[in-house]
Amino acid sequence: MTTTEEHAPGPTTAEIGGVGHSVKRKEDDRFIQGGGQYIEDISLPGMLHLALLRSPLPHARIVSIDASAAEQLPGVVAVVTGEALAAHGLAWMPTLSGDTQAVLATDKVRFQGQEVAGVVAESPYIAWDALELIDVEYDPLPPVINPKVALAADAPVIRDDKEGQTGNSCYEWEAGDKAATDQAFAQADKVVSLDTHYPRSHPAPLETCGCVADLNPVTGQATIYMTSQAPHAIRTLFAMVAGLPEENIRVVSPDIGGGFGNKVPIYPGYVVATAASLLIGKPVKWIESRSENLISTGFARDYYMHADLAVKNDGTILGLRVNMVSDQGAFYADAQPSKFRAGLFHVVTGSYDYPAAHVVTQGAYTNKAPGGVAYRCSFRITEASYLIERLVQNAAYELNMDPADFRMKNFIRPEQFPYHTPTGFVYDSGQYAAALQKALDDVGYAGMPKEKEEARTEGKLVGVGIASFTEAVGAGPSKDYDIAGLKMFDSAELRVHPTGKAILKLGTKAQGQGHETTYAQIVANELGIPASDIAVREGDTDNTPYGLGTYASRSTPTSGAAAVVIARKLREKARTIAAHMLEASEEDLEWEPGRFFVTGAPDRGVTIQDIALAAYSNYPEGTEPGLEGVHYYDPPNLTYPFGSYVVVVEVDEETGVWKVRRMVAVDDCGVRINPMIVEGQIAGGLAEGYAMSSMQFITFDEDGNCIGSSFADYLIPTSWETPRFQLDETVTPSPHHPIGAKGVGESATVGSPAAYVNAVIDALLPYGIRNIDMPVTPARVWAAMQEAKAG
Ligand code: CDP
Repeated sequence: MTTTEEHAPGPTTAEIGGVGHSVKRKEDDRFIQGGGQYIEDISLPGMLHLALLRSPLPHARIVSIDASAAEQLPGVVAVVTGEALAAHGLAWMPTLSGDTQAVLATDKVRFQGQEVAGVVAESPYIAWDALELIDVEYDPLPPVINPKVALAADAPVIRDDKEGQTGNSCYEWEAGDKAATDQAFAQADKVVSLDTHYPRSHPAPLETCGCVADLNPVTGQATIYMTSQAPHAIRTLFAMVAGLPEENIRVVSPDIGGGFGNKVPIYPGYVVATAASLLIGKPVKWIESRSENLISTGFARDYYMHADLAVKNDGTILGLRVNMVSDQGAFYADAQPSKFRAGLFHVVTGSYDYPAAHVVTQGAYTNKAPGGVAYRCSFRITEASYLIERLVQNAAYELNMDPADFRMKNFIRPEQFPYHTPTGFVYDSGQYAAALQKALDDVGYAGMPKEKEEARTEGKLVGVGIASFTEAVGAGPSKDYDIAGLKMFDSAELRVHPTGKAILKLGTKAQGQGHETTYAQIVANELGIPASDIAVREGDTDNTPYGLGTYASRSTPTSGAAAVVIARKLREKARTIAAHMLEASEEDLEWEPGRFFVTGAPDRGVTIQDIALAAYSNYPEGTEPGLEGVHYYDPPNLTYPFGSYVVVVEVDEETGVWKVRRMVAVDDCGVRINPMIVEGQIAGGLAEGYAMSSMQFITFDEDGNCIGSSFADYLIPTSWETPRFQLDETVTPSPHHPIGAKGVGESATVGSPAAYVNAVIDALLPYGIRNIDMPVTPARVWAAMQEAKAG
């Protein structure tokens, strides 16, 4: 028999840029040469410009709006008010969470920065100038800024627009088994508690939000270019809200300069621009300023959390109780699946095996901009992960155990997967102890006692913090997940052209994650066509199959899987055509990357490129011509990436200033499609986690003024502040993903904040400090030390 070595071998996976290779990002050629096309780059003939007037007050009745002076300003085409929109039934819109939100305020303003009126003008400068000429008379109402105050019986009702809304509660959900949890706590030797606040933060993408709405009055065609992470879902909702025929709406998301969850919701600016274009008959562009982005769109977190952990003296965890209050702002507007609304339920029990948990979470309306957006996380998973990882660290201290040993003792073991959590979810796969051990080895954990002691002699406090997180990504199985009724599957359409090149179109939409490279690598791996020969398209509803978009690290688990499946389907069709070309039976053919050959005669083969041409020119009778198809992938479960992060910090006792000495991140996202891109995703998330834990803070004064409306107040870490990260990996494939990949984009944002804070708390052990709320600023560290000293 001839051996395979004797024929001209097909390309290696490295040559075609298959899975597992750090192929350079294709899209970067365009980006680094200034060739990207962002929303601001789109300019259409006759285009007008929209600017929005925003409320200076957080809570007030609108008495009157006088726009006459603005209307007189040369170059102003129209002033749009809530009243004008109401005449067309557009003053209010549904949100992706099933609430309603004012497009332009008609009755009251409910947060500082809320949209009150819009000016459409010939230039953006005229539009901004005209805003100054609009006279709004407000009758101020008392603002409600704290969610716990908002939930008190005597708090003013913010959402009096909603029928039957008598207080400020926006939702209350629970998960787990209360009775079993009570029983677990009755058997505990100790109960360890933690009260903490995960502060309001903002995704702050480099590019703010915007759109160009082009409603052609002659053809009835609506083309809306917008910064959306989910263009298909937006198109459907626009059709429902505006009553436009969906087939006449085309939503195009061009290049997007960062999203991180900020570009999932529907913002009033999109709707006002679309309504203005519809009424005026010309394209209308709206581009948000930096401050507008920071005060009115897509806030995240703002969770007040209390948790109790029941433990035995030997370090066994018995149960968990959690109670949380979330500040949703004035409108419940983030995207949430209608079932399992609080995604925190998935991972709140962490990476640990114990039988009982009970979690209650309540959302409150306040006079703040809408919050709760999943900033680089899936539906409150970041808060859950932070809570459990802070809590287990404190539990170890209370039991006089090493925090690493405490985790090792309680980890879910590899043989327990698929693991059923006490809150009713199923983790797919994990090797938690292996990941932590690797991180401990990498960071030099065994040497920590010596390092701490040496630092002490130099007047420094050194601490080491661990976070062994599990998270849940890839929404989702459609039986459990929908957004506004739209089931959460995703899609891939693959066309192999006659010359053997291909185009792949997907329902997702990258905002910097490198999809043009990694999706091509997936298809290259399955078909043997070089990744460089595969064009990837996303974000145009006319030209891509339906999907729910990119957020919550769902692209790899959903569209990534769809790309694998459709490529495999086409490979089977290619087999039929190859058999015809080789005059062999299909069963006698074998596949190697890029080529079918006859079993036992490797020289008798045809390449995928030959087959592609034959699919259009020499296909067997009775076979449908062409080599293309589409697959909609409905994942059987979420994927559960995990990791262990270990941080070593030193704290200056005189000032409370702390700095990171070392940071090791061991991540496991199953099979890595492009290791370099995965590392980029992780490094970015670690930097964001560092920012949240150390410096970022959007707060409100008691009058409801938003403090943090510019980058002077809301700090973005530069490379100067950002610590160095040492990255490592373990690989535990997802058993249900066709190539074993799990999502990774948000892992580091989810996992790292607890590691940084745990490290500072560990350094402060001599003071007996168990919590400092984020951001752990030097001032807070210093104050905590003074308080501890004072006893
Ligand atoms: O949905 P999103 O793209 O934000 O998140 P993701 O699915 O975690 O993917 C982020 C980037 O990392 C994409 O370019 C993926 O293809 C890549 N990735 C990878 O190379 N290997 C994995 N196992 C997971 C993601």
